[in-house]
Amino acid sequence: MKILITGGAGFIGSNVADLFISKGHRVVIIDNLSMGNIKNVNKKAKFYKMDLRDKKIFNIIKKEKIEVINHHAAQISVPDSVKNPFMDEDINIKGTLNLLNAAQKNKIKRFIFISSGGTVYGEPEKLPAKETFKISPENPYGISKVAGENYVKFFSKQYGLKYVILRYSNVYGERQIPHGEAGVVAIFIKKTLEGKRPVIFGGGKCIRDYIYVGDVAMANLISLNKGDNDEFNIGTGIPTDVNQLFSIIKEVTGYKEEPEKGPFREGDIFANYLDITKAKKILNWNPKVSLKEGILRTYNYFKKEAK
Ligand SMILES: NC(=O)c1ccc[n+]([C@@H]2O[C@H](COP(=O)([O-])OP(=O)(O)OC[C@H]3O[C@@H](n4cnc5c(N)ncnc54)[C@H](O)[C@@H]3O)[C@@H](O)[C@H]2O)c1
Repeated sequence: MKILITGGAGFIGSNVADLFISKGHRVVIIDNLSMGNIKNVNKKAKFYKMDLRDKKIFNIIKKEKIEVINHHAAQISVPDSVKNPFMDEDINIKGTLNLLNAAQKNKIKRFIFISSGGTVYGEPEKLPAKETFKISPENPYGISKVAGENYVKFFSKQYGLKYVILRYSNVYGERQIPHGEAGVVAIFIKKTLEGKRPVIFGGGKCIRDYIYVGDVAMANLISLNKGDNDEFNIGTGIPTDVNQLFSIIKEVTGYKEEPEKGPFREGDIFANYLDITKAKKILNWNPKVSLKEGILRTYNYFKKEAK
């Protein structure tokens, strides 16, 4: 297939691009490099340095004869979205709408939209969070992801656009940058490599669902052919608190120091992890990499990068 990946120079998008290319797909990448790095772009992909909000995206989709769009580009920082909701809205909502409009006019076969299981449900009443739970985002980033999902569904209803929505939990792994939803993994590993003590906030009790990027890339590969017009949680379904995460990092890296303690951070959701039964059943997708193995791979990556 000929696939356009937006945000393909970023952490997750570049891992998805590598997997697609290794399976024989042809990949075109659009990224404005605001956060991504040209180093991450697969040599076999065709790269356009372009903003998601640029109307010329229509011409690229047409010229490249794109069949599938895999939409990863976004402003991904929750704190930045709180500080500047207009910037978040401009990139995540208007950018997505621009892309959907170009997709529909070019009669794209499939649109894979990347959403966030860590924010669209807010602080869920019960855990693990299911796709059927109330959608109740608590910050502008989550609101923009919900808006994106709703626009995708509108284009599907109005113009017959086929879509898949993937709601990731906290993704970590090679090429991760420290400010994303699972930024804590990259932050802790980098600190231990620099011999600095990481800070654990609020007693380390915050619970998250940490999923390895290779497993996430596999969910995208499967979504090229399955999961029509549906949404899926993509996580492990396993709750891990920050203290447990730090213990695993210590075990893997051999780091011996105790962490510094910081206050509970205002605005942090206390606990979230995802029910992945639906993705297992309909996509026949299963996360394969344990947290310990994934952290080891991430550690080896950062160690090599630091040289
Ligand atoms: N990292 C996580 O844990 C996580 C969890 C849930 C959902 N997501 C979603 O996954 C996607 C990828 O996230 P990531 O962690 O790889 O982040 P990332 O910042 O590494 O990747 C995003 C990419 O989009 C590009 N980009 C940003 N704004 C752009 C614009 N206006 N035009 C063109 N390109 C632009 C950036 O340069 C970057 O390369 C995002 O949609 C994010 O919301 C991530």
